[in-house]
Amino acid sequence: MTTPTLKQAAGAQYTRVLGYGAARGTLVVRNDDIVEPINSSDEWIRQRTGVITRTRAPKGVLAVDLATDAAREAIEVSGVSPEQIDAVIIATISNVQQTPSMAAVVADRVGANPAAAYDMNAACAGFAYATAQADALIRAGAAHYALVIGAEKLSDLIDPTDRSISFLLGDGAGAAVVGPSDTPGIGPVSWGSDGSKAGLVGMDGTLVDFRDGETTWPVIRQEGPSVFRWAVWDMAKVAKRALEESGITSADLGAFVPHQANMRIIDELAKQLKLPQSVVIARDIETTGNTSAASIPLATHRLLKEHPELSGTLSLQIGFGAGLVFGAQVVVLP
Ligand SMILES: CC(C)(COP(=O)(O)OP(=O)(O)OC[C@H]1O[C@@H](n2cnc3c(N)ncnc32)[C@H](O)[C@@H]1OP(=O)(O)O)[C@@H](O)C(=O)NCCC(=O)NCCS
Repeated sequence: MTTPTLKQAAGAQYTRVLGYGAARGTLVVRNDDIVEPINSSDEWIRQRTGVITRTRAPKGVLAVDLATDAAREAIEVSGVSPEQIDAVIIATISNVQQTPSMAAVVADRVGANPAAAYDMNAACAGFAYATAQADALIRAGAAHYALVIGAEKLSDLIDPTDRSISFLLGDGAGAAVVGPSDTPGIGPVSWGSDGSKAGLVGMDGTLVDFRDGETTWPVIRQEGPSVFRWAVWDMAKVAKRALEESGITSADLGAFVPHQANMRIIDELAKQLKLPQSVVIARDIETTGNTSAASIPLATHRLLKEHPELSGTLSLQIGFGAGLVFGAQVVVLP
């Protein structure tokens, strides 16, 4: 018997982002509210990080709830009906219930049931990774419309006495609907990892150690200066590669949306990329803090609200963080 040839799915030639949604924690936490246990000051935090407030979610509101709110807005503005969405991807490192996935729950809540749904962990590069996956799935014919979400409630993973990262972290979710396009709307992804530096940033213990009384509640910590240097030097190269592979230069950009980790990193990357004055740089960290996987879509959503003229222009987004992992691509703003 001869083996029959399998039929193959045919995908769209190109994809684009159709709309963004955002949900931030409703609590506005000022620097003065958190400086005492870390022996810091409003002035130090502003000068060294650019953060003035971070948004956090109250007890009872989980990352999955923020993800749902952001997703509903993204679906509404994209003009796609939820039943058309056949893939839901949530990038997160702060799902406090490892299973079921947040994505399956959100798919059902927003009316996209029975979409394929899964969570993925690429820390602060998560949204760039998930965008790359949505683009690839749609072009491969594995999905027609994808809902991509970065969602975090990092305030459950902090130690108020930790000086290394806790004071920077916020809660929020950002979402995007990705669908087929007549012209290229998502450029090639420039991504990768370096697990040899896994110890530089991440959780300081396991749930098993915690259960066995061998550690306190695991929280996120980092070796700030090492991560800072890596972010500034290595990530500039990753961003440049994303531009090159998209066949454009920094002068072609309308916006630059780097991961919102530290304002000094944002400024340094902008300098190394030689961004012209005309490029609008996302600085959402100032009032939202670092929301890991949610930081790029939250910052992009805000840019589009504050600068509607950016619609239709090119945005370079780059995420980087625990793993270490990194991902960058150019997208056409909806
Ligand atoms: C965490 C971070 C803000 C610290 O800033 P920094 O400028 O590197 O600070 P350093 O650790 O070099 O410390 C400089 C001084 O500030 C002090 N300091 C460090 N953290 C402090 C804090 N939270 N508050 C007040 N003082 C602090 C140090 O004790 C040191 O004092 P000294 O000069 O008297 O020894 C910065 O390293 C950073 O943003 N790192 C990268 C973050 C990132 O990209 N993360 C990506 C993954 S999400």
